[in-house]
Amino acid sequence: MIARKAAWTDAEAIAAIYNQGIEDRVATFETRPRGAADIEGWFDGVHPIVVIEEDGRVIAFAATSVYRPRECYAGIAETSLYVARDCRRRGAGRLAMTALIEAAESAGFWKLVSRVFPENETSLKLIESLGFRAVGTYEKHARLDGAWRDVVIVERLIPANLEREAKPSPSISGANCHEFPRQTR
Ligand SMILES: CC(C)(COP(=O)(O)OP(=O)(O)OC[C@H]1O[C@@H](n2cnc3c(N)ncnc32)[C@H](O)[C@@H]1OP(=O)(O)O)[C@@H](O)C(=O)NCCC(=O)NCCS
Repeated sequence: MIARKAAWTDAEAIAAIYNQGIEDRVATFETRPRGAADIEGWFDGVHPIVVIEEDGRVIAFAATSVYRPRECYAGIAETSLYVARDCRRRGAGRLAMTALIEAAESAGFWKLVSRVFPENETSLKLIESLGFRAVGTYEKHARLDGAWRDVVIVERLIPANLEREAKPSPSISGANCHEFPRQTR
């Protein structure tokens, strides 16, 4: 498996993996399947996206996106992590999130945030082992298939970017955010 920067040409593969996550109803309130064009919109030149490739196939992705439009929050990114159904439990999720944290650090972000369903113990365990902490729980945050669901708010500081005047911008991220591939096995 290798971790590498995602490209527009990965959009279809990313959409297919994301759609499995949507179908599984374990990770997101989204219910509308996505196409490649939706995913292409994620590539804004500021927010890193990484994919895991195995034998030429994209099997997982981790993505950052805008947290809030306010300037003061520019160094905070939302994160998401999805592994193809038939490739889970083989280390791809851990590798993807590890690579995303590195990419976010290089791009100047100082914090990653996300929200996870409390029932998604796999995801909570994995990201907590990578330095995320549970901040608290939003109760009845939204409905999924008509049922109110809670979500655990998680955050991970990126200490290197708390020490200096770092802030993501297209010029910074374009130059620095993707020092891949990173080989594992
Ligand atoms: C959650 C998800 C990203 C984890 O990725 P993965 O590739 O399956 O996980 P990994 O193989 O990297 O395992 C990471 C850790 O989680 C643990 N783990 C993995 N699957 C598990 C399971 N089903 N039950 C309990 N623990 C599990 C492993 O012990 C592993 O720890 P280790 O590295 O110390 O052995 C993946 O299952 C997935 O895509 N799920 C659907 C979408 C989703 O939930 N995304 C997260 C949104 S918040």
